[in-house]
Order: sequence, then structure tokens, then C-alpha cells
Amino acid sequence: MGGLPSIPSSASQGRWRELLAGAVSARSILALATRGGYRTIRLARARSPDDRLATLELDLHLARAGPASLEHAGVAGPVEVFVGPARWTLARLKALECGPCDVVYLDADKEPCVVYPVVVLALSRTGQ
Ligand SMILES: C[S@@+](CC[C@H](N)C(=O)[O-])C[C@H]1O[C@@H](n2cnc3c(N)ncnc32)[C@H](O)[C@@H]1O
Repeated sequence: MGGLPSIPSSASQGRWRELLAGAVSARSILALATRGGYRTIRLARARSPDDRLATLELDLHLARAGPASLEHAGVAGPVEVFVGPARWTLARLKALECGPCDVVYLDADKEPCVVYPVVVLALSRTGQ
């Protein structure tokens, strides 16, 4: 899709993501990061078209490719894409009070994965 090389993601991993999102009746999903959207497709299928799907991506080309792939895969509904470094975008989303998210999928650069959850928690729905 979109001329991007495929990345590993088994059918069972995809089904697992869809099950998790469905289990919490996700109405708002945030995916780090966009790339070709391959791994986001199954998450997106757990929501209704009028529910929120936002992704963020460092690379402008990939930020454009992701939504096109999702549309190609038949994922209905709008996709918001924020371009820039995840740390910066997450801080901006927090400042804009863009939460709460029901599901946040961490699949961007791996080194900051110890810091992303701190910000992501502030954007997440609590009490479920
Ligand atoms: C494994 S891929 C994401 C796959 C995607 N979740 C999907 O559904 O196919 C990792 C992505 O993280 C992006 N990325 C790497 N560092 C980043 C950063 N600091 N901020 C935002 N995105 C970043 C890369 O450009 C790449 O597109």
C-alpha cells in the first residue's frame, strides 16, 4: 500500500488489537505513529465511523500515506493526522485538552517508550 515496504504484523496480532479496542468500546483512538497505517487498520475497524481516530507521525510523506492506506483498506470515517515529533505532538494534544482517548497504541520510535506513557496517561480516559 502506498508504495511502502510492508512491516511485520501477523493476522493474530491485528485481531488482538481489534479485540482490545472493541472490549473497551473505543470511541477515541490515538495511534503513534501513522506510517502506512497497516497496524492501525485493525484498531480502526473496532470503532464506528463517527468515532475519533487520530495518528501522529514524524515524516510528512508517511503522514500523508497513512490515511490513504486506511481509506484503501475500507476504514470508514475521518482520520486526524498530526505531523511532528511524538513528544512535541503529545504535549500539544495535552495542552489542547484533546483527550480522553480510550485506546492509545504506542508504535513509534522505541527509545522514548518509557516517557510516552507518562504523557499518554494524561490523555487517557480513566475510571473504566
Ligand atoms: C513501526 S512504524 C508505525 C506503524 C504504524 N503504527 C502502522 O499502523 O503501520 C514507526 C513509525 O514511527 C515514526 N516515528 C519515528 N520516530 C518518531 C517520532 N519521534 N515521532 C513521531 N513518529 C515517529 C516513523 O516515521 C514510522 O513511521
